[in-house]
Amino acid sequence: MIPWKETTHLVDIDLDERDWEIGDFFGLGSQYILRALFESISDGVLVLDAQGKVVHLNKRGAVILGLDQAASIGRDVAELVDFKPVILEVLANGQGYLEREIYIHSPSRGRLRFLKSAIVLRDRRSRILGVIDTFRPIEPQDKLALRMASPKARYSFSDIVGKEPVFLEAINLSRIAAESDANVLIEGESGTGKEMFAHAIHQASARASGPLVIVNCASLPPSLIESELFGYESGSFTGARKEGFSGKFEQADGGTIVLDEIGEMPPDMQAKLLRVLQDKSFTRIGGTKTITVNTRVIAATNKNLADEISKGRFREDLYYRLNVLCVRPPPLRERLDDIPLLVSHLAMKGALHYGRAIPEVDGEVLTAFREYSWPGNVRELENVIERAIIVSETNRITMAGLPNYILTSIQHRLVEKNPKETEATVLDLEDVERNAIRQALKETEGNISICAKRLGISRNTLYRKMRQYSL
Ligand SMILES: Nc1ncnc2c1ncn2[C@@H]1O[C@H](COP(=O)(O)OP(=O)(O)OP(=O)(O)O)[C@@H](O)[C@H]1O
Ligand SMILES: [Mg+2]
Repeated sequence: MIPWKETTHLVDIDLDERDWEIGDFFGLGSQYILRALFESISDGVLVLDAQGKVVHLNKRGAVILGLDQAASIGRDVAELVDFKPVILEVLANGQGYLEREIYIHSPSRGRLRFLKSAIVLRDRRSRILGVIDTFRPIEPQDKLALRMASPKARYSFSDIVGKEPVFLEAINLSRIAAESDANVLIEGESGTGKEMFAHAIHQASARASGPLVIVNCASLPPSLIESELFGYESGSFTGARKEGFSGKFEQADGGTIVLDEIGEMPPDMQAKLLRVLQDKSFTRIGGTKTITVNTRVIAATNKNLADEISKGRFREDLYYRLNVLCVRPPPLRERLDDIPLLVSHLAMKGALHYGRAIPEVDGEVLTAFREYSWPGNVRELENVIERAIIVSETNRITMAGLPNYILTSIQHRLVEKNPKETEATVLDLEDVERNAIRQALKETEGNISICAKRLGISRNTLYRKMRQYSL
């Protein structure tokens, strides 16, 4: 039986009650069991006598306090650490506590935050024999807050729409990637869904409950990339926060870091990143301590990295490190059969977003979409659908709701494809355009500025077209 005096002093333990026979049970002696117990728990354990001398310090405790385990025994605790040991107060006032949050200032390590318990050891006559101090560090406030605020995956595989074989290939490979812990490279044109794929891989992986941290390498000035990724120690550069800062790699510990636009990473950062990928450890700027993280890396780019390598702009060794699995979401023009599916998905999404009824989509719109090249891929399609929903008064997506640049591009395309039918096609599209302008003028009661804005053209173009169509 463990001799807790539960009613009066929860955190007092009476060593005089020698009824704890667990060591005898194993035939090992209590000393052995006690030592095994101290070393088996994940908290630091420090046992002090009534004078504050170290009777025992477990390995974990030695690591947390940065002390040599064996050399600490018999020493005065106040001499060992460079802060005022709060545990001495317990010896002074005899008051133990359980799971209390405590801040300590260490000149060498800055502000430390611990969760601590102190159990007072007494003899029969209530004299203090010593204290057992158990403690574990709590993450610094910024890291904790960031972790709480750190985004979870916004998309899963069920949000990614597409059925064409080239697309399913990319999906299948991503599912395989989700099951492994290998680095992944996602290479695809702008708007093909690279970010969605990265989210889905994280979300379907064993790391789903960990953080997902996304870094856009293109949006960071080169001078800030290093501190953003790896953090800095206090006072390492002017303007640095006093208490230092953890970088994205540390924030993504236990989860996934997405290095978006990796093709934009400056050469010196590529070298540092390569080292991190090789041994999963790094040092903060201005720091000496090696930080080891368990972070999975997904890199994404809309550049062709093989090209970048041949132009000497991207390191080949880094490319091979990242490219353990390469997922390539195909451009929209290579999966035209997915257009109807995507259009109805995006129309529903847009309608929900704008609080509209889900629109019907005219067949000729779907046909026209097949003739357009979609340089902005699904994102562009999404924008076009959104716009059509906004301008539509009839709850239909019609040719008249499409932006001018798309109508013009389709017209050119059709002319190129079929010069003989040029005249008829051009006439057709002119009809569409004339109707769109007439309709818009009616709806805006002839306000040229608003009408031009709604049609996505300049006022001058609108005037010209009105003359052309005699409106
Ligand atoms: N297969 C898809 N199914 C549904 N929506 C998609 C799909 N692909 C892309 N989208 C939509 O298109 C938009 C762009 O996707 P995303 O941001 O993932 O593209 P990206 O490849 O990262 O683009 P960029 O290179 O410009 O960063 C998102 O709003 C997303 O909702
Ligand atoms: Mg992206």
